[in-house]
Amino acid sequence: MTGECPTQVMPAGDLAIAAAARVLGEGGLVAFPTETVYGLGADAGNGEAVARIYEAKGRPSFNPLITHVLDAAAARRLARFDPAAERLVSTFWPGPLTLVLPKAPNCAVAELATAGLDTIAVRVPSHGVARAIMAAFGGPIVAPSANRSGHVSPTTAAHVLGDLGGRIDLIVDGGPAPMGLESTIIACVDAPVLLRPGALARARIEQVVTLKAGAGVRASDNEGAVIAPGGLASHYAPRARLRLDATSLYSGEALLAFGREGIAGADRAVLTLNLSTRGDLIEAAANFFSHLRTLDTCGAATIAVMPIPHAGLGEAINDRLERAAAPR
Ligand code: TXA
Ligand code: MG
Repeated sequence: MTGECPTQVMPAGDLAIAAAARVLGEGGLVAFPTETVYGLGADAGNGEAVARIYEAKGRPSFNPLITHVLDAAAARRLARFDPAAERLVSTFWPGPLTLVLPKAPNCAVAELATAGLDTIAVRVPSHGVARAIMAAFGGPIVAPSANRSGHVSPTTAAHVLGDLGGRIDLIVDGGPAPMGLESTIIACVDAPVLLRPGALARARIEQVVTLKAGAGVRASDNEGAVIAPGGLASHYAPRARLRLDATSLYSGEALLAFGREGIAGADRAVLTLNLSTRGDLIEAAANFFSHLRTLDTCGAATIAVMPIPHAGLGEAINDRLERAAAPR
């Protein structure tokens, strides 16, 4: 799918909508217009499809993604809304507002899409083409801006083709994105706080809720690290100690394995989980956060991690492992 593949460009219309829903259902990647910028969509419930987004964008690390749904009812199945969040969405959805909220207990979005966080970013776009694709596909779609990592967000199909041509399956061309600026992001975890200024002006938001002063605003968030105002966890950090590049296992350790090879002492592991027995880095990325969480709760004080190649998504996996292993 990614790596090198022909990218089809189709004008928005019934054929393109049907093709988009089919590609998404098969775990592929579809770029489509929203009222803000073009997004790069994948099936939110399919971890490997989500992993392909990071590969196509060339993201050096796993930043959490925005989940797009048709209406507030669908969003409430993924996230917990407090009264401020309810007021915001009844005023501004559908539209260029993203909310970061606590994840709902049975949230059906792949762990990789939220980078292992306990919060999730959700948004209900108003653009007709985005909405038609969501309706035809019938489930939540994760979509970061459809640009290569470090580049500016695309507002036309031609921008997307220039950045991601040969790396994604389909681009639905619905003309220029009307607003040309990413959605405004507000976290409603504690008091509402502005995480990213965007297409919905702060002053309009403040007519509906009081924003916590000064917190969390980052002048130019594009592909930067996770925005983390006080109180919002920036990265999932395991409780257990991590021992990287392990070539043998000590007693009492849990093992995060990769590939077919074994390591000395592996039979003594408190618990072993393999990111990908066939050594596939897309599969490994899809399993990464959930495996780490499971090993973290198995009772072992240390998780030994076998060496992971640095190629492709291995770079992002290793980046996450190094942060998680850093002394806290
Ligand atoms: O207008 C938009 O929002 C576009 C269109 C396609 O919907 N999407 C977009 O996505 O700009 P992206 O991935 O380029 O930016 C999403 C931002 C990132 O900065 C990410 O760190 C932040 O949202 N984010 C996502 N989930 C988060 C979370 N749980 N906590 C804090 N920040 C989060
Ligand atoms: Mg972006």
